[in-house]
Amino acid sequence: MNLILTLSFVAIIWPSLVLGHEPSPLQDFCVADFNSIGVRVNGFPCLNPKQVTVDHFLFKGLNIVGNTSNYLGVSVNRPTVNEIPGLNTLGMSTVRVDYAVSGVVPPHRHPRASEILVVLEGTVLVGFVTSSPENKLISKVLEKGDVFVFPFGLFHFQQNVGSGNAITMAFLNSQNPGVVIAANAMFGSSPRIDADVLDRALEVDSSVIEKPYLIYKGSNFNFLMLLRSMKNDFDFNFSELNFPLHADTHVDAPGHFYENYFEQGFDADTLDLIVLNGPELLVDVLRDENITGMCAWNG
Ligand SMILES: *[C@@H]1O[C@H](CO)[C@@H](O)[C@H](O)[C@H]1NC(C)=O
Ligand SMILES: *[C@@H]1O[C@H](CO)[C@@H](O)[C@H](O)[C@H]1NC(C)=O
Ligand SMILES: *[C@@H]1O[C@H](CO)[C@@H](O)[C@H](O)[C@H]1NC(C)=O
Repeated sequence: MNLILTLSFVAIIWPSLVLGHEPSPLQDFCVADFNSIGVRVNGFPCLNPKQVTVDHFLFKGLNIVGNTSNYLGVSVNRPTVNEIPGLNTLGMSTVRVDYAVSGVVPPHRHPRASEILVVLEGTVLVGFVTSSPENKLISKVLEKGDVFVFPFGLFHFQQNVGSGNAITMAFLNSQNPGVVIAANAMFGSSPRIDADVLDRALEVDSSVIEKPYLIYKGSNFNFLMLLRSMKNDFDFNFSELNFPLHADTHVDAPGHFYENYFEQGFDADTLDLIVLNGPELLVDVLRDENITGMCAWNG
């Protein structure tokens, strides 16, 4: 009796195990009919096969190098069923990613697909993290021609760690894999997730949750940063000023600040020592000479 029950249970779950997520088609194809108001069970209704043309199966342009001039330094070209209607019900799609040096595809997951990635150019660090409680990072630096698998639905990332540009192609077992970017889901939702929820969940202070926004950049430091903004639902704008400091009292030559004084030769030796307090050592440093200990000896 038990055996019969077990066998019939296996028989019931077996078809779903072997079929996976998108079942085998019952006709040659089911080109997506985006205009149909018919019932959508999973995917799009089928276009009348008599109206199907070659263009429904075609996408052009994955040879084109993407523009990576953005914060992440990557460009993603991802034709799904929305760009290739002939993919409807077939359970697959593809993606090209271009990477500038250090370019990152940030941690993300595809809620409806596994992914197999091929490095066409460059050196790419990839990794995914297993589910809780292990949260094990499985990661590798890939070279041209290497192939790597991101299992179904797990968070993963890529970064170009080579010295030139990189290109990867990937294939996913869904016509519409979807993307959940970890940072956007937590910090970029609309409306925002309550800061107290994130404080507690992430064990951080909410002041670090908003991405600091650079308002004015100094020559080699961030002069003015907006850390929290009313635009992002904070009760106030909160910004931070950075000032570089000199230690020790000193006097600069006029030529140090003003180009015209420099050109007119207002070097340190044109300062009037009478107006400066205390004993002074006048050091003669020629304009084409570096300041070294020897200058003091010659002074
Ligand atoms: C690349 O994108 C940047 C930022 O959007 C833009 O300024 C630049 O003109 C683009 N370059 C090309 C070649 O399209
Ligand atoms: C707060 O910062 C935002 C930029 O995020 C700016 O648009 C807004 O004018 C600022 N408000 C005040 C009161 O300074
Ligand atoms: C001054 O120092 C720099 C850096 O060490 C060096 O490249 C340059 O040749 C030096 N100039 C003179 C005149 O010694």
